[in-house]
Amino acid sequence: MMQATPFLMVLSLALVAPGFSARKPCTLSGRWVNDLGSNMTIGAVNGKGEFAGSYHTAVTATRNEIQLSPLQGSQHRTNNKGQPTFGFTVNWSFSDSITVFTGQCFVDEDGKEILKTMWLLRSRVDNINDDWKSTRVGINVFTRLPSQK
Ligand code: BTN
Repeated sequence: MMQATPFLMVLSLALVAPGFSARKPCTLSGRWVNDLGSNMTIGAVNGKGEFAGSYHTAVTATRNEIQLSPLQGSQHRTNNKGQPTFGFTVNWSFSDSITVFTGQCFVDEDGKEILKTMWLLRSRVDNINDDWKSTRVGINVFTRLPSQK
């Protein structure tokens, strides 16, 4: 007859293993650069999953001079598998536009953190008849910049 203790050990491993990730967790805090060359800095994530930071875009849909702009966001905190989903809003300091980003923080096979995002850029239009052309959509991929010490 099968021994009870080894059987229970194998059973508990089988139950726990699918939720166990050997990879390091992906952390949003820090400095990031995206595929357009834009830079962002995300501060500490608080206990509610909320964070704030700043964004320096490399490109603009306007003729205005680019300025550093604030961002506010939150990450999912019920996700204990280490690759959280998140969203943030950039309220552009130099234009009437707003961009919302949504994405997920991944750790790739080399152990490198990567943010896969999609965004909607809402530009202000003067007339409701121009609403149809007010919103751009795209993707951005962010990689971590080395921390400055
Ligand atoms: C504007 O042009 O009104 C504000 C700047 C918008 C920059 C966009 S947001 C999505 C995309 N990703 C970037 O890093 N920059 C552009």
